[in-house]
Amino acid sequence: MGFLADALSRVQPSATIAVTQKARELKAQGRDIISLSVGEPDFDTPENIKKAAIDAIVRGETKYTPVSGITPLREAIVKKFKRENGLDYKASQTIVCTGGKQVLYNAFVSTLNKGDEVIIPAPYWVSYPDMVLLCGGEPVFVPTTLEKGFKLQAADLDRAITPRTKWIILNSPSNPSGAAYTRDELKAITDVLVRHPHVWVLTDDMYEHLTFGDFVFTTPAQIEPNLMDRTLTMNGVSKAYAMTGWRIGYAAGPDKLMKAMDMVQGQQTSGACSISQWAAVEALNGPQDFIQVSRKAFEGRRDLVVSMLNQASLLDCPMPEGAFYVYPSCARAIGKTTQSGKVIKTDEDFVTELLEAEGVAAVHGTAFGLGPNFRISYATSNELLEDACAKIQRFTASLR
Ligand SMILES: Cc1ncc(COP(=O)(O)O)c(C=O)c1O
Repeated sequence: MGFLADALSRVQPSATIAVTQKARELKAQGRDIISLSVGEPDFDTPENIKKAAIDAIVRGETKYTPVSGITPLREAIVKKFKRENGLDYKASQTIVCTGGKQVLYNAFVSTLNKGDEVIIPAPYWVSYPDMVLLCGGEPVFVPTTLEKGFKLQAADLDRAITPRTKWIILNSPSNPSGAAYTRDELKAITDVLVRHPHVWVLTDDMYEHLTFGDFVFTTPAQIEPNLMDRTLTMNGVSKAYAMTGWRIGYAAGPDKLMKAMDMVQGQQTSGACSISQWAAVEALNGPQDFIQVSRKAFEGRRDLVVSMLNQASLLDCPMPEGAFYVYPSCARAIGKTTQSGKVIKTDEDFVTELLEAEGVAAVHGTAFGLGPNFRISYATSNELLEDACAKIQRFTASLR
């Protein structure tokens, strides 16, 4: 019998963290590296939110909080879901967690039994399958295509559902593709789910506020109220308010699930950081103008990056609706040879050689379950993005 838990052999370290580490090592060797691998806004947290946290410290809000969160924050979450999503939840149906990550973990650990299946459209955020595996479930991947905008198709979902399906994870706008479902596209998905009453829906709406142009964000329980009693609607302040380090995520759902998640969290971390919770109250209840400012900045960067990548030879970059990622295909670069004589056989080879040759760090698509592609996070300055895209253009032009 080994010392480590069997479940651990089922999970992998995060590929995005591995790329970031490699880039850091090259930087330490003195190389000029542009890292486009990180998944967080480059903006600072807005001043009013920081001040709310400082005020909370001064007031002495420094003790344990209730497990599912302080009442003012749970009430702010109820108001947010009503105001922005037209959803009616009671404060008792909400939970505040240490990041969106803990929402997912609580949900899976409190519901998955051995052999339970969780449908995950690919490409997916790296943590979904590993969390499912850690909690004893089986991820079931449903691939999407670039031609269909990396969006799950109703017929493919229908085919993937079995009597063992417990959850489907939906994530719009998506990490890693930036794809976001229109109301009609999401309705096609919820129509299938209505016909399968044993399947629960976990909707990860973390990038809700980062959509561009006239795109209108919608969430499953809003489109199909019949799904309300089997949907966990998850969101957070990390991406919307540039608060990744504060570690506050939240969710709302049916009573029996929320009670179970509260129990799990009570034996694990208890309430999230008291100071961060007060900061999140201000984020949700205070002025919302930061969202428009960051959305405008990200939209300009998306346009810049998509245009420059489509000018690069051998790359095809679709225009995503949201988030701060693009997910170009490098299929036409497979089989080509670099200046240093290496043959590019996979998307992982592509990003490795790109990093070696030009010092630009991106993450290979197979890490997100769909390739040959790569993910670029454009949460950095226009100047660096222009420089990085010019280097990518030079790299693809050099392939023979
Ligand atoms: C799709 C998605 N969901 C959830 C999270 C978790 O966010 P946090 O734990 O910072 O709230 C992330 C962070 O990268 C993400 O990309």
